[in-house]
Amino acid sequence: MKQTIVLGISGGIAAYKSAQLTSELIKKGYDVEVIMTQHATQFIAPLTFETLTKHHVMLDTFEKGYNESVEHISIAKRADIFVIVPATANIISKIAHGMADDMLTTTFLAAQCPKIICPAMNTAMYQNPITQQNIRTCQSYGMDIVEPEKGLLACGDFGEGKLANIEQIIQSIETNLRTSSLLQGINIMVSAGPTQEAMDPVRFISNHSSGKMGYELAKAARNLGANVTLISGPVSLPKPPHIHTIEVTSAQDMFEAIKEHYKTQDIIIKAAAVGDYRPMTIAEQKIKKTTDSLTLTLVKNPDILAYLGEHKQPHQIICGFAMETDDLLKHAKEKMIKKHCDMLVANHLKVEGAGFQADTNVVSILQGDQIESLEKMSKGELAKIILHKLYELYIGKGESKHARCN
Ligand code: PMT
Repeated sequence: MKQTIVLGISGGIAAYKSAQLTSELIKKGYDVEVIMTQHATQFIAPLTFETLTKHHVMLDTFEKGYNESVEHISIAKRADIFVIVPATANIISKIAHGMADDMLTTTFLAAQCPKIICPAMNTAMYQNPITQQNIRTCQSYGMDIVEPEKGLLACGDFGEGKLANIEQIIQSIETNLRTSSLLQGINIMVSAGPTQEAMDPVRFISNHSSGKMGYELAKAARNLGANVTLISGPVSLPKPPHIHTIEVTSAQDMFEAIKEHYKTQDIIIKAAAVGDYRPMTIAEQKIKKTTDSLTLTLVKNPDILAYLGEHKQPHQIICGFAMETDDLLKHAKEKMIKKHCDMLVANHLKVEGAGFQADTNVVSILQGDQIESLEKMSKGELAKIILHKLYELYIGKGESKHARCN
C-alpha cells in the first residue's frame, strides 16, 4: 500500500516550490494529500495540486459540500508523515503554541505521525529570537526542522531564510518514513541530566549537565517508535510528549527510579551525569558562615551503571557514557569493561562543541575492541546514530524478543 504524505502549504512565496516537491513525491510512488492555508492560495492555485495529486485540496474546516470538519481527523490518522513546506513564521508560531484555527493547523495538531517543518521567510523574521524560540519549541516536541539556506530572497535581501532544496526535503521525509517504526515494541530507558546532592535546605553539589544529550536520545527513540522511559535529573528542558518521564533530584532518587523500572527494559542508556559523592549528612537548617573554613564529609553514591551491568537481563543492552578530562579512550574503555556495558559513548570535557550544555557533541563510540570516532554533530543527529547501533546490538542478541531470523 502507498504511504501517505500530508503536505501542508502556508502563505509564503516559496509555496510555488511545493508543486515541484509534490510532483517528485508522486513520481516516487507516494500518495500526497495537500492542505493549504487561505494565504497560500494567493501564491499558487489549489488546482495545481489537485491536478498533481488527484485529490481534493483541503482549505477550510467548514467548506460547503465537503465534510472537512471530520475529514481532518481521518487525514491525520492516515498520515504516515506530515510536512509543512514552506512554513512561514506565522504557521511555526501557531504550531509551537498548539493553535488550531484553520484546516492545516487543526489537522497538524491531530496527527500523531512524524512531522517535518521546512521554514522559509525573510532573514530578519527567521533570525528573530521569537521565531528561533518557536522553532526550538517545535523541535522539543519531536518535529524535524529542515533548516533554510542562505541565498537571495524574494524581498531582495541576501541571507538565511531560503527554503531548503527539494532533494534535502525529500531526504528528510524518506529518513523519517523509513525509520519511524524501527524500534516499535522495544522498551528503552534513558537517564539524563545532573543530580543534585543536598548539603542543607538551600545548597547542593551538582554538575553542568543540561540534560540535552539524554533528552535528544529519548526523543529520537520515541520518534523511532520505542516505548521510552526517561529518568531525568533537574533540568530546564520542556517535558517531551509521549515519553514516560520520571523526575528525580539526587543520585539515590535516580537509583531508586531505575531499580523500579529497569527489569522491563530492552535497552538502557545512561547519559546522566550522576554525582559520585553526596554530603554524609544534610543539615536541617541553613549552614551558617561562622567559620573561615568549612569541612564537608562526602560519602560515595551508588554506581547505578555498575549495578545495571551486574544485574543485566539476558536480553538487555546497556549503553554507558563517559565524560573525561584526560586519557579519554583509556578511561572510557576501563569503564565499559568494569560496568559490563555493551557500548560506551565517550566525550571529552575539553573538546570544543563536546559534552555539557552544547547543542553538539564530539564522541567516540566503543564496542568491545572497536572504537569509532565521530565528527562534531548535533546531539539530535548523534542520538539517531547511537540508537541505530544499539538496535543492531539488540537484534543481534539471541535472547532478544525481536532477534533476527536468519
Ligand atoms: O546533559 P548535557 O549538557 O547534554 O551533557 C551531556 C553529558 C556530558 C552529561 C553526557 O554526554 C555524558 O557524558 N554523560 C555521562 C557523564 C558522566 O557522569 O560520566 P562518568 O564518566 O562520570 O560516568 C560514567 C557512566 O556511569 C555514565 O553513564 C554515568 O551515567 C554512570 N554513573 C556514574 C556515576 C554513578 N554514581 N552512577 C552512574 O550510573
